[in-house]
Amino acid sequence: MAATVRPRKTSSDTSRGAAGAVTESRIARGRATLAPVERRELGKTGMSVSVLGFGGSEIGYERVSARAVARLLQGALDAGLNVIDTAECYDNSESLIGRALAGRRDEVFLFTKCGHAAGWGRADWRAKPLLASIERSLQRLRTDRVDLIQLHSCELATLRRGEAIEALEQARARGLARFIGYSGDGEAARYALETGRFDTLQTSVSIADQEAIELTLPLARARQVGVIAKRPLANAAWRHARKPGDSYIQDYWTRLRALDYEFLRGEMDAAVSVALRFTLSLSEVATAIVGTTRPERWQANAALLAAGPLPPAEAARIRARWKDVASPRWVGQV
Ligand SMILES: NC(=O)c1ccc[n+]([C@@H]2O[C@H](COP(=O)([O-])OP(=O)(O)OC[C@H]3O[C@@H](n4cnc5c(N)ncnc54)[C@H](OP(=O)(O)O)[C@@H]3O)[C@@H](O)[C@H]2O)c1
Repeated sequence: MAATVRPRKTSSDTSRGAAGAVTESRIARGRATLAPVERRELGKTGMSVSVLGFGGSEIGYERVSARAVARLLQGALDAGLNVIDTAECYDNSESLIGRALAGRRDEVFLFTKCGHAAGWGRADWRAKPLLASIERSLQRLRTDRVDLIQLHSCELATLRRGEAIEALEQARARGLARFIGYSGDGEAARYALETGRFDTLQTSVSIADQEAIELTLPLARARQVGVIAKRPLANAAWRHARKPGDSYIQDYWTRLRALDYEFLRGEMDAAVSVALRFTLSLSEVATAIVGTTRPERWQANAALLAAGPLPPAEAARIRARWKDVASPRWVGQV
């Protein structure tokens, strides 16, 4: 598994009860009214999730203000968002989300991760610290349980030892989390599926990261494990004219240069629309948790999905181009 170190520079919506009960979400964007955002079943969990989710790493790492996060999430909830993913190590992301969701906790499925309570790169996979980290996440998120707790990209050897998985099972048994998942890629993700012990898999899949399409997604489907697509836009790495200094997105930038998809040469919105709809053309993917720092971005991306499913011929072209160009070293990026 390639190691990518993430930490960087330091409506008119109506009835709502449980998150899954939101049916008629429409947003007014200028004069346009958007169609409701599609929902898909997340494996066997019973969670019916918006295909466009929210990834919480950017708001933490980029130090977005509490006010902007509240605007961002409140607006997205009004527009049909019902799944938020974060982690204990995304700086203050959990606290920002907890604060922004005040009074609206039951409108959303809340996912977090554990394993790096002392920060990325200082992992601890022993049961006691994992459980303590989960308790801390609940406090920060201002909730008494999360809908999903995930092991945050531990190595295959850690999974094999079993203690970390047992810790998550204990958390579920104690009611701290409703479901448990593995978040990661490559052989570790494959092994996680083979154990039969996880309800979900969060894994990288996008126009620039297609290893999972053959390595793990078919098995996830066979085992009815819900799939959450992380980094689903490949960090929109193509928007940078030169190779970015941020090592987190350099690989995707380089890959996309080589892939040279024609649709990336056009307007940004049209390119994002194709990229996002490619990830969602994979029927195993229940939700794509796009990260953003910007209020209104979620609604704008939801509007790009209104174009409908990506035509199968276009998805096939993207897949064929990958098969032609991808190097065997282009493995799933953490
Ligand atoms: N190991 C793990 O478990 C792991 C690892 C990585 C990520 N994740 C999860 O996956 C989530 C998503 O990953 P990510 O945020 O790294 O990648 P991503 O969702 O592929 O890309 C996010 C980037 O795309 C940009 N973007 C979004 N919409 C855009 C648009 N319409 N036009 C132009 N740019 C746009 C955002 O910029 P703006 O701020 O300008 O919108 C942001 O910089 C994370 O937040 C996290 O929850 C998990």
